[in-house]
Amino acid sequence: MSLASPASPESVFTYGAPQLKFGEGASDEIGFDLSRLGVHRVLVVTDAGVASTGLPQRVADQMAKFDIEAHVFDGVHVEPTDVSLQAAIEEARESGPWDAFVAVGGGSSIDTAKAINLLTTNPGELMDYINVPVGKGQAPSEPLKPLVAVPTTTGTGSESTTICVMDVLSLRVKTGISHARLRPTMAVIDPALTFTQPPGVTAAAGMDILCHALESYTARWYTSYERKQPQERVPYCGSNPISDMWSEKAMSLLSGSFRRAVRHGDDAQARADMAMAATFAGMGFGNAGVHIPHANAYPIAGQVKDFHPKDYPADEPMVPHGMSVALTAPEAFRFTFEASPDRHVRAAQLLAPNAGVPSEPAEFLPTVLADLMRDIYIPNGIGAVGFEEGDIPDLVQGTMKQQRLLATCPREVTEDDIAGIFTRSLSLW
Ligand SMILES: NC(=O)c1ccc[n+]([C@@H]2O[C@H](COP(=O)([O-])OP(=O)(O)OC[C@H]3O[C@@H](n4cnc5c(N)ncnc54)[C@H](O)[C@@H]3O)[C@@H](O)[C@H]2O)c1
Ligand SMILES: [Zn+2]
Repeated sequence: MSLASPASPESVFTYGAPQLKFGEGASDEIGFDLSRLGVHRVLVVTDAGVASTGLPQRVADQMAKFDIEAHVFDGVHVEPTDVSLQAAIEEARESGPWDAFVAVGGGSSIDTAKAINLLTTNPGELMDYINVPVGKGQAPSEPLKPLVAVPTTTGTGSESTTICVMDVLSLRVKTGISHARLRPTMAVIDPALTFTQPPGVTAAAGMDILCHALESYTARWYTSYERKQPQERVPYCGSNPISDMWSEKAMSLLSGSFRRAVRHGDDAQARADMAMAATFAGMGFGNAGVHIPHANAYPIAGQVKDFHPKDYPADEPMVPHGMSVALTAPEAFRFTFEASPDRHVRAAQLLAPNAGVPSEPAEFLPTVLADLMRDIYIPNGIGAVGFEEGDIPDLVQGTMKQQRLLATCPREVTEDDIAGIFTRSLSLW
């Protein structure tokens, strides 16, 4: 089923991005950059794993030269929860006031810094700002402080987006806060910080890049929506000429470097390409939006059974974000193929430039994805991370709650469609 034509089609798309510094050595200039903002007390936000590499302390140490007092908070929970965010906010409130924040880490650290920034500058509590229906979806009333985001993974693109993702523990659901003011003031991407990223994290986070690029590239075209009033505009506006450019380039970078970065973490060119791909895909999806694989990822991660992925903290079961997104991607793109066959074929060609178009073009992208996932040791479907056929109704319910994401899907999608995608994703190859 395709989408009905809007009575009054949208004619406007929007684009937002933070100031950006990219390249080896970029993270050595943060002290100088912050000094120009007139700040005196800075909180560096990270998790214990990243802290053990010494990178966050190195960033904090450059502040003294500019008369800036910097403290490292290493209490970020890997894949934040409402409880972990609340604890981080309370600690920052007690040790504050802070003039600026610097997040050094993956999406978990950057998202935690976004929540700290929001709730040390604005009244109320986390639930007031979390997306409806879980929270009240309130917009911040006060400006936030400067936030410099310094990614150490090559994945989420959180350094350029307006979102903070979290697991709400009592509801076993992943949701988030989404508002333009959450976007970092500055993104500092230094590929040298990603060399210590372990292979399992490189693989899962890299699948996140790939799905950001693919989902935004195949998202509903912006003119297929009803025209919005200015006050109704949201950061996600559907695929559009600018997001396409970022997504296509991200896919080309991945095609040459993803497997190498997983297998040879010290390959500087592969690491730099992955860092650039993550940034580019973030600038694309951060404006266009994502759809089915991300909507499915939320219940897959939220309803985790007893899976413990290699290279992640071992104390709790988890399906890391990028892995949870990847597990239903081949089947999701088999489903969306008919909405834009040319785009699906083009994406497969960008990812696998040496492969010929198969006789059944709908199989092209799912095959390219499954081959890649097998090569980088992503588990073989949702069955391989512990789900069974009997779990599918609950997973489907979880996906159907992600209406904000499903609204970007290029085809109308029903509960039965999602159930079929989950069932065919129990095992992928
Ligand atoms: N805000 C957004 O736009 C957005 C987009 C996608 C995902 N996310 C969220 O981001 C989180 C996932 O982030 P992620 O995939 O970047 O990973 P992460 O921040 O969860 O980190 C994963 C693991 O890698 C370790 N690690 C990170 N960098 C390292 C380095 N250089 N050296 C050694 N170890 C390192 C961490 O200690 C951690 O154990 C999820 O909560 C996800 O929902 C947010
Ligand atoms: Zn993602």
